[in-house]
Amino acid sequence: MLTQSISPDLFRTALGRWASGVTVVTTADPAGGHHGFTASAFSSVSLDPALVLVCLDNKATCREAFDQSSGFVVHLLAHGQQDLAGRFARKSPDKFTGLRVSLSPTGLPLLPRALARLECRTDRRIPAGDHLILIGEVLDADTGEGAPLVYYQRDFHQLVGATGS
Ligand SMILES: Cc1cc2nc3c(=O)[nH]c(=O)nc-3n(C[C@H](O)[C@H](O)[C@H](O)COP(=O)(O)O)c2cc1C
Repeated sequence: MLTQSISPDLFRTALGRWASGVTVVTTADPAGGHHGFTASAFSSVSLDPALVLVCLDNKATCREAFDQSSGFVVHLLAHGQQDLAGRFARKSPDKFTGLRVSLSPTGLPLLPRALARLECRTDRRIPAGDHLILIGEVLDADTGEGAPLVYYQRDFHQLVGATGS
């Protein structure tokens, strides 16, 4: 049995070698207020049913809103949307100010110009360490054009060779 545990620094350094896309995940609270956070801890889970997951820090201000809501929207960001990623990664009550937000049929906030948007019904919430795994059943999706925004070694990058269509 393994008894040793990795240091936080080494864990972070090792995971920095993992390139990922960048998402902004949004939801609405029971009063209709909008909430969201930037997330790279996103993955597809299952094709049938169509499931995805995203991991949310227990300390996030928006945690309560995601606990209460019955759904969320995952926006897969395009290259050029670094500002949006930065905006939703900063603690602020005004994350949505000045953005052209529309509403999904279930009343969830939709951000413009994403590479893809996945509208999800919260299927399950699984506590895991200092994060909560949100599993969503994808009810609907739409797609846009562009190259993906890539996160690697704690910085944003462009995927060279991406066709953008
Ligand atoms: C590129 C990037 C990826 C991130 N990925 C995650 C993630 O997967 N899960 C998470 O909980 N926070 C992630 N964060 C941090 C949150 O976006 C940030 O802490 C946010 O402010 C949390 O929401 P809050 O403002 O409601 O507290 C990421 C930040 C950046 C810049």
